[in-house]
Amino acid sequence: MENHSITIINQKGESRTLNFVPYSYRNLMEFILHELYEDIGACKGKAWCGTCHGAILQGVCDDEMFGEEVKTLGKLETVPESRLACQIMLEPELDGMVFKIIGDG
Ligand code: FES
Repeated sequence: MENHSITIINQKGESRTLNFVPYSYRNLMEFILHELYEDIGACKGKAWCGTCHGAILQGVCDDEMFGEEVKTLGKLETVPESRLACQIMLEPELDGMVFKIIGDG
């Protein structure tokens, strides 16, 4: 099976590169929560809390943005190329991505 990996930088600035199996979790937030035990996901993926907010430092995410995500991002710190991890599917296209967790602060 082809290997896929993604690099996650947590709020302390620690970077971890992890292999992932596409679609093994419902979304990127759940992957980060279960694989790295980061304290994100307060709203359980409803795009309300902003704890899974992160900047895409490398790679692209073509997943469509829906109303709740646009609304929540509008209330958070303005960061270019940022998304809510709970609205990003764990797709093969994430291979090589660098995602830096910003959170809701
Ligand atoms: S888990 Fe709450 S906005 Fe993503």
